[in-house]
Amino acid sequence: MSTNRTFTMIKPDAVANGHIGAIINDITTAGFKIIALKYTKLTPEYAGEFYAVHKERPFYADLVSFMSSGPIVAAILEKDNAIEDFRKLIGATNPAEAAEGTIRQKYAKSIDANAVHGSDSDENAQIEGDFFFTAAERF
Ligand code: CMP
Repeated sequence: MSTNRTFTMIKPDAVANGHIGAIINDITTAGFKIIALKYTKLTPEYAGEFYAVHKERPFYADLVSFMSSGPIVAAILEKDNAIEDFRKLIGATNPAEAAEGTIRQKYAKSIDANAVHGSDSDENAQIEGDFFFTAAERF
């Protein structure tokens, strides 16, 4: 298992608000290398599967509905200490609590529409990356 890769999605709110370019610029400026990149849209079934870990949470239905409401950008990123450094770069899940200069503080509006996803562990980064990308789509 890789210890220096993470998985991200630029969520439908940030895509709709025109922030794809700025967010990718923040990510690469912070030293992350893009290993795989895809512009796509999740079906409700696919979003439900991706977030199955949250199935019992009260926000699950809204989360699935939101994540399938418009196109997203999925990416695998590489950097030393990728999981922790990426979570620092994006800021707290709730943008109201996100530190100054973080991606969520700059581009997110609410805990649901929070601009980006970032994996919380090496294991989930692997699972989430495999969800979107074949081996031939990674460089
Ligand atoms: P993400 O990191 O993509 O993982 C699950 C998502 O659920 C999270 O970002 C939030 O956008 C969303 N969510 C909505 N309500 C909550 C909550 N109370 N706690 C955690 N995540 C929430």
